[in-house]
Amino acid sequence: SVIIPDDTTVIGRSDFPAGFVFGAASASYQFEGAAREGGKDPSIWDTFTHTHPEKIMDRSNADVAVDSYHLFKVDVQKIKEMGMGAYRFSISWPRILPCGRVSGGINEDGIRYYNNLINELISNGIQPFATLFHWDLPQALEDKYGGFLSPLIVKDFQDYAELCYKEFGNRVKYWITFNEPWTFSRAGYALGGNAPGRCSKWVNVNCSAGNSATEPYLVAHHQLLAHAAAVNLYKEKYQASQKGKIGITLVLHWMVPFSKSKSDREAAQRAIDFMYGWFMHPLTYGDYPKSMRLLVGDRLPKFSTEQTLLVKGSMDFLGLNYYTADYAANIPLSVPLNVSYTTDSRANLTTQRNGIPIGPNSATTWLHVYPRGIRDVLLYTKRRYKNPVIYITENGISDPNNSTISLKEALKDNGRIDYHFRHLLFLLRAMKEGVDVRGYFVWSLLDNFSWADGFTTRFGLNYVDYKDGLKRYPKDSAIWFKNFLQS
Ligand code: BG6
Repeated sequence: SVIIPDDTTVIGRSDFPAGFVFGAASASYQFEGAAREGGKDPSIWDTFTHTHPEKIMDRSNADVAVDSYHLFKVDVQKIKEMGMGAYRFSISWPRILPCGRVSGGINEDGIRYYNNLINELISNGIQPFATLFHWDLPQALEDKYGGFLSPLIVKDFQDYAELCYKEFGNRVKYWITFNEPWTFSRAGYALGGNAPGRCSKWVNVNCSAGNSATEPYLVAHHQLLAHAAAVNLYKEKYQASQKGKIGITLVLHWMVPFSKSKSDREAAQRAIDFMYGWFMHPLTYGDYPKSMRLLVGDRLPKFSTEQTLLVKGSMDFLGLNYYTADYAANIPLSVPLNVSYTTDSRANLTTQRNGIPIGPNSATTWLHVYPRGIRDVLLYTKRRYKNPVIYITENGISDPNNSTISLKEALKDNGRIDYHFRHLLFLLRAMKEGVDVRGYFVWSLLDNFSWADGFTTRFGLNYVDYKDGLKRYPKDSAIWFKNFLQS
C-alpha cells in the first residue's frame, strides 16, 4: 500500500475488487506520429494543424507526436512496468482506410501496425481496449460529403467498425465506438478550436465557416446513429463468436450550482443535460432530454422510431472521462440570447466564485482539481441512467512543459500522485454506494500532443524527452502506481 505525504489514508490495489482493471490511455493522433508513413492518408487533424497552426498554443502538430508508431514496444513495456492490466488506445481510421471507405482500399501496413500492437499487448498480459474514433476522421470523407455533418457517415463508420471487428476482434474484447462526442461536436463545430474548425460568428467573431446554431446538434446526432449502427452490427454478427463487449466514452465536468438558488440549481441540471444527457438520455431512453427539446427546439434533430430502438440500450458499458468541475449559473429568460450553441442551455459556466477557483489549477485552463466530482458524476449516473456498467476511461492532470527545469525535477510530479490518490478514494466511495465501476484508466500513459495546447502541457505518467529522441522516463506518479498496484 502507498501512503501519501501529509495524509494518513492508505489505499492499494486490494481495496478494489479482484477483476477491477487498471490501465493507461492514449489516442492515435496524439501518440502515433508517422502522419504520412505506412500508407496513411491525412485525417482532419493533419489538415487542421497544418492549415490553422494558430489554433494550437505552440503552433505545433502531431506529425511525429511521441512516435508510438515506431516505439509501441517500448510503450507496452512502460505499461507492464507499472503493473497495469490494460491499455486504451485508438485506431486511426485513415491509417487503415486512407480513403475512408473499404471500397477505396484497405491499407495492409496499417492493419499490420495494429496487429503488432495488439499482439505485443497480449503477449505482455495487457488487455487491449480499442477506441474506434478519437477524432481523427479521414480527410477524404470530410472532403467528399462534410464528414459528420452528413448522414452518409453512419454507414461508412459501420463499415470501418466491421473491418476492425474482422481484423482485430479475435483479440480485442473491449470496443469503444466514440470518444467524447460532446467535445468533437462542440470544439469542432461551435467553438472552432478543434478539427474541422467550424464555428460561426455567434460564438466566435473571427470564424465564419459553419453554423454553430445547428451543426453541433447534427454532428452529435450522426455520432449517436453511427455508434448505434456499429454496436448493432457487432451484436448481430460478431459478439456471439468473439465474446467481446462494446460501449461508448462520454465526458462530464461535474456541474456545481453557482449559488444555492433554485434557478442556479436548475441551471446546473441543464448544464449536465447539455453535456452528458445529450448522449446518455438517447442511449438509455431513446430520446434527447426534455430540457434540450425545449431550449433547442427544431434545431435539435429527431429520432425516427427505428432509430430510437437502435440507439436505446446500445452499449454493454459506459466509458466515462472525468477530469474536473464547473460552476453553473442561470442565464435568466429576460437576457436575450443570440442563436448560439454555447448558451442554448442558459447556463453560464465558470471556474471561479468570488475570485476563488473551484479547485487547484493545472496547466490546462479548463482543468481544476475537484476529486469529489468523480463520485458525484458516478452516483448521478447510477440514479438517472439505470446503474450501467462503467469504466473510467480517462482521469488525469497536466503539468506545464517547463523547459527551464532539469529532467530530475520534471519527474517529480507529486501533484499528479495526489490527484489520482484523491480521485481513487472518491471512486471507491461511489463503488461502496453501489455504482458498478469495473476499471480505471489514467490519461495518459505518456506526455503527448494536447489538442489545444500542443506540447506546452504534459499529461503523462511517463515523461517524454522532446529534446532527446523522445526517450521515455517514469515520473514519480508511474512509480506510485506501480507500488499501489503491487499492494
Ligand atoms: C480528453 C480527451 O477530453 O482530454 C483527450 O479525450 C485529451 O484526448 C484530454 O488529451 C486532455 O485534453 P487536452 O486537450 O489538453 O489534450
